[in-house]
Amino acid sequence: MTRITITRPDDWHLHLRDGEQMRDVLGHSARQFARAIIMPNLKSPVITTDMALAYRARIIAALPATMQSSFAPLMTLYLTDNTPSDEIIRAKESGMVHGVKLYPSGATTNSAAGVTDITKCYATLETMQQIDLPLLVHGEVTDPDVDVFDREKIFIDRVLSPLTQRFPNLRIVFEHVTTCDAVTFVQESSRNIAASITAHHLLLNRNALFEGGIRPHHFCLPVIKREKHRLALLEAATSNNPKFFLGTDSAPHSQPNKENACGCAGIFTAHAAIELYTETFDQAGALDKLEAFASFHGADFYQLPRNQEKITLTKESWTVPDQLAFSGEKLIPFRAGESLSWRMV
Ligand code: NCD
Ligand code: ZN
Repeated sequence: MTRITITRPDDWHLHLRDGEQMRDVLGHSARQFARAIIMPNLKSPVITTDMALAYRARIIAALPATMQSSFAPLMTLYLTDNTPSDEIIRAKESGMVHGVKLYPSGATTNSAAGVTDITKCYATLETMQQIDLPLLVHGEVTDPDVDVFDREKIFIDRVLSPLTQRFPNLRIVFEHVTTCDAVTFVQESSRNIAASITAHHLLLNRNALFEGGIRPHHFCLPVIKREKHRLALLEAATSNNPKFFLGTDSAPHSQPNKENACGCAGIFTAHAAIELYTETFDQAGALDKLEAFASFHGADFYQLPRNQEKITLTKESWTVPDQLAFSGEKLIPFRAGESLSWRMV
C-alpha cells in the first residue's frame, strides 16, 4: 500500500508548554490532529479549573487562523496532595476538563508539585470515580532505590494495581506505557483501564540511547526499554484492542536544555506524529489497524464523538528539518535530518 486515508486522528497525550514556546509548537499538532489532551505540567502547574480554562483560551488564541475551528484542546488538571473534591466537581461541570493527571512527585518534568503519597488523594479519587472523570497516570515510582528501568513495573505492583481494586469504577489511562508488564496489566484489567502509546516507544529500544555515544534527544520518561518491551507495545498497538490508543507525549525542550550535563527528559514528535505511527504500523504489516488505534479507541474511551473528517498519507520519503523554531531557541525534532517514509498530504 502506498496511500492510506483514515479518519482524522486525535493525540491523547500532548505537552504544549505556554507563551511563545506554545505558539511555535502548536501548529505542528493542530495540522494533524483534531483534538489533543493537553498535559497540565506547566512551570506553574494547572491545578484549578480556572487555570485550565485560562490555559485553554491562550491555546485557542495562539492557533493559526486557519486552524481556529479545526483543533480542540481538551484540558486536564494536575493532581496534588491537596486537590479538593470541589475542584473536581467544578472541572467536570466546566465540560472542558477531560481528566486529572497524576504525577508522582519528582517523577518527571515539572512534577515537584505532584503527589507525594497516593493515600492523600483517596477522597478526591472517590469523587472522580463518582462523577466519572478519568485519572491519567504517569506510572513510575520515584524511590531512588528502584532501578530506573523497573520504575513502571514496580509502580503497577505498589500503586496502580491496589488503586484499581480500591476504585473499580474509576476510569484510568495508564499513560505512555513502556513495558510488557504494563501491556499485560492493561489487557487483564477491567474495561475502565486503558493506555496511551507513544510513537517513539514503538520505534526505539534502549540501544537508541547509546548509539555511537550518548543521545540526549532519545531521552524521555519513562525511559525507552529493551527490545522485548518494544515488541509488546507494537503487538498491543496493532492488536485492534480498544484499550490501546495514540498519545504522542510530544514534549519540547530547547536544544541547550537537552544537550546538557543534566539534560531534560522529553522527545518532540509533533512535527511528524501521524507519519511516525504510520511508518511503524507499515513496518509491522498492520496499516489496516492504524485508524482504530489513532482515531477511534481514544475517542471511545473518553466518551467523545469520533471525528468525521479524513486525512490521507502517502508513502513518499521526506527529510525532517535539522531544527525548528522554539521561542528564539532551537528545538531538535525527532529524526532531525533523517528521512521518514510516509507523509501526510
Ligand atoms: C514530559 C515533559 O517534558 O513535560 N517529559 C517526558 O520525558 N515525557 C513529561 C512526561 O510526560 O513525563
Ligand atoms: Zn507526557
